[in-house]
Amino acid sequence: MLNISVKSTTPLRQKTSCLVYGVQEGKLRTDVLSELDEQLHGVLQRAKKDGEFKGGAGQSLMLHGGKGVRPERILLVGLGKGKELTLEAVRQAVATALGQVRTCKLKELTLDLASFAPGRATTEDLAQGVAEGLLLANYRFEQFLAADKNRPGPLQKAVLLVRKKEETDAESGAARAAAICRGACTSRDLVNQPGNVKSPEYLADEAKRVAEETGLQCRILDRAELEKEKCGALLGVAQGSSRDPRMIILQHNGGAKGDAPIALVGKGVVFDAGGISLKPAEKMDEMKMDMAGGAAVIGAMQAAALLQLPLNLVGIVPAVENLPSGTAYRPGDILTSMSGKTIEVLNTDAEGRLILADALTYVARFEPKLIIDLATLTGACIIALGNHAAAVLGDDGLARQLMKAGESCGERVWQLPLWDDYAKMVKSHVADIKNVGGRGAGTITAAAFLQAFAKDQTWAHLDIAGTAWEGEGKHYLSKGGTGFGVRLLIEFLRGQA
Ligand code: BES
Ligand code: MN
Ligand code: ZN
Repeated sequence: MLNISVKSTTPLRQKTSCLVYGVQEGKLRTDVLSELDEQLHGVLQRAKKDGEFKGGAGQSLMLHGGKGVRPERILLVGLGKGKELTLEAVRQAVATALGQVRTCKLKELTLDLASFAPGRATTEDLAQGVAEGLLLANYRFEQFLAADKNRPGPLQKAVLLVRKKEETDAESGAARAAAICRGACTSRDLVNQPGNVKSPEYLADEAKRVAEETGLQCRILDRAELEKEKCGALLGVAQGSSRDPRMIILQHNGGAKGDAPIALVGKGVVFDAGGISLKPAEKMDEMKMDMAGGAAVIGAMQAAALLQLPLNLVGIVPAVENLPSGTAYRPGDILTSMSGKTIEVLNTDAEGRLILADALTYVARFEPKLIIDLATLTGACIIALGNHAAAVLGDDGLARQLMKAGESCGERVWQLPLWDDYAKMVKSHVADIKNVGGRGAGTITAAAFLQAFAKDQTWAHLDIAGTAWEGEGKHYLSKGGTGFGVRLLIEFLRGQA
């Protein structure tokens, strides 16, 4: 794990293998840059004149030090236009820098914090943003790769340079980032783990391990207990797999005793083949990520415990596998959910809402003051928003708070409506409700289904189908699980604390 520390010295006097310095577009004449330019005989002005480096977003320029400049290298990274500079742009610029430094196989860097400062951010928030950029971009899932000396390894040490009186603030920002990114990377590890490794039991064991490490309470319900609780919807989905389901329950008791908890619920389908309504072969491998909502809940609970948030929290992850087999549930089956409501299954590939139905019923016994569920629930969500935002539906106030938290942490969320008209689309003639709502508005009818089980609880649903998985690799996200939801939930929860 990358160690991030804070120090106050003049950047060009710091001994380091690489000094990283942020440059706003067209602003190549700060005190440090002017001194650097002078020491290196006008190299900056030449680079600017040749159009090689102006400080545009995504640009970078690696220079080697010289007499009067102690860092061995200086990496200038473009931040784009000053007035468009946000913390998210800072995270991405820092990720660009980290990529360059890793490619050079350096293990250590020093970063001038003030050079990255957007207009309004506090030192603490800036340090958090920079540290997040470094920690998130440094992550790779390499557990199954043979050791290779030619592969650039992770950065091991980063020093943030600040002014004397900013040291404590910067340290606490970096520490906050470390806790949050630990949770985000736990989530990414879980999502990246292949289906053969990742049974429902494995997910439960990992939750237990995280709980023991961080001081969370953890309880696991096995098949027998799920039967006793009459989780008929969850058990219906689980029927096709020889690997038994689990319900994972994590608790963080940081608030006052007796205070109603905030509940986080995450879809934990360890692999979604679609069941008897089998999915096409193309990209089916990616359906190992169908537990990303559950992974976000586990990661967020971990981070909340590490941050010692003064809140009571409960995290619920129903974990199952959705496979076709001779014992699998079929289209046309009618399941009796834990709530007593009966469900007509019209498509066995709409399994996420079934397991969440029981989880939303189960969570009511904690009498939570609000519930947020996260799920890779519908392909329709990717059609609506692509990979750039999650959808949020449900309680308007909660949705607004989540959108605001998303805007400031860089995990964006956009609201879709949940009018009564959509609830009509999941009415069944043979059961209380059916699990698909017809062709249109797939993300909304899925939420309308969940709403029937959230009942009168304050509840919002996040569809993270488009944001949980990164197919190419971009800025601070390598290919694979993104950890989406962990930073969002923590940003939201910090606002509640
Ligand atoms: N896990 C999928 C949704 C999904 C698709 C997530 C692509 C991420 C990427 C979910 O269980 C599913 O299969 N949904 C169906 C619902 C349909 C049958 C009503 C879908 O979206 O096609
Ligand atoms: Mn499915
Ligand atoms: Zn699914």
